Amino acid sequence: MSISSFLTKKFLKSLFFPAHNRGKALPKKLIKILNSPPGIWDLPELPEIGSTLSKQGLIADAQKSISEKFNTKKCFFGVNGASGLIQSGIIAMANPGECILMPRNVHISVIKACALQNINPIFFDLEFSFVTGHYKPISKEWFTKVFKNLDFEKNKIVGVLLVNPYYQGYASDLEPLIEICHEKNLPVLVDEAHGSYFLFCENINLPKSALRSKADLVVHSLHKSLNGLTQTAIIWLNGDLIEENKLTRSIHLLQTTSPNSLLLSSCEESLKDWQNKKRLDKFQRRIHEAKTIFHELVKRNIPLIETQDPLKIVLNTSAFGIDGFTADEFFYRNGLIAELPEKMTITFCLGFTNQRGFIKIFENLWKKLLINAKNSKQLKVIKPPFKLIQSPEISIGLAWTSKTTSIPLCESSGKISGDIICPYPPGIPLIVPGERINTDRINWIKNQSSYNRDLVNSYIRVLNT
Ligand SMILES: Cc1ncc(COP(=O)(O)O)c(C=O)c1O
Repeated sequence: MSISSFLTKKFLKSLFFPAHNRGKALPKKLIKILNSPPGIWDLPELPEIGSTLSKQGLIADAQKSISEKFNTKKCFFGVNGASGLIQSGIIAMANPGECILMPRNVHISVIKACALQNINPIFFDLEFSFVTGHYKPISKEWFTKVFKNLDFEKNKIVGVLLVNPYYQGYASDLEPLIEICHEKNLPVLVDEAHGSYFLFCENINLPKSALRSKADLVVHSLHKSLNGLTQTAIIWLNGDLIEENKLTRSIHLLQTTSPNSLLLSSCEESLKDWQNKKRLDKFQRRIHEAKTIFHELVKRNIPLIETQDPLKIVLNTSAFGIDGFTADEFFYRNGLIAELPEKMTITFCLGFTNQRGFIKIFENLWKKLLINAKNSKQLKVIKPPFKLIQSPEISIGLAWTSKTTSIPLCESSGKISGDIICPYPPGIPLIVPGERINTDRINWIKNQSSYNRDLVNSYIRVLNT
């Protein structure tokens, strides 16, 4: 089968990204373009359109109008996902050799930007739940403890990166955390890839958007958490801690010279769609329906985990001895396509369409899965083996470009990694270049490998000594 013929394959329920649910929740204007003669919309950077960095043109006008609407200094569309704009944000924040404070669950794009630009990550650990196998959101107390343990003399920390919400939907109260950073004059970049819609839903008791919590840079993935096409994203600039000129230069450094006009139009239309009262009402109805789905499933004794994002349905399969990967295979075979299998859980994304019939289908399949489950013993998870504050032993950039040899992971204790081990999704590195590998780390990765086929028998590139 060719890729193109697979693209139109139908599934019983598509519970994955992009959140427009296979076109059903796309903005009307975008649907109109897609229904016009094939490819007519595929235009280059004509003067009328310009680029995301032009002073004039339709893109500049759209960005200006959206930025004014949300009272920010500037915003820029992106067509290389949240990844591309996060990387520009990082490069705007730190020069080579400088350090950025970041949690252990950052997305791989952050590590790649550090490798590219020789920026040093200072990782802080997060509280961990043995029930879900997930990191917990960051409390003010935890973050204060992190700051007390930082060595500002030794490391030139020039900025902070936060991830909020996490893939599964856990969200922190960001404002007090950002205040702690601002007291030290440190700018904050928030990777809000999974929380774009919070910005439009201040009236319905969702987590406060990073933009409203005074972050200096915020990146939204418009395909994960708004109704944009895959690869669409936006970065917002606020405050005075990041120079606009540094941000535009960093965007310039990384972006293609041929941005796809359909994707740029999708950025504009999805952001406009959520400003339209009638459409917003409809999306907010979907969010209420998602909350109802959650409560109805819990009433039916289905072991769901509550997070702060109603659109994520997180099923805790581990209590019944079933790992998320086995559950994923089962649901996939039965037409329910999930977004994120993990050792203890599986996460489904409801997206912005009506999920008619979902409760019944889900309940029936869950019961069937339970009957098939041979082992009913609660699964056990190992806590990630990190210190409260930890940074790679040698710089990521140097490790990335050093001479390496590929060896079995189980034989790598004592060596320095030249590699990133990172299952996707969720795209959170388990080890990064420059870190010294030890048996705790190997055992932790192996513990996850018994369930995740991506990691089984894995090899790692280590630095030649
Ligand atoms: C927390 C987080 N940030 C950033 C990204 C990158 O987003 P994109 O796929 O739009 O590049 C992801 C993707 O999984 C993510 O989970």
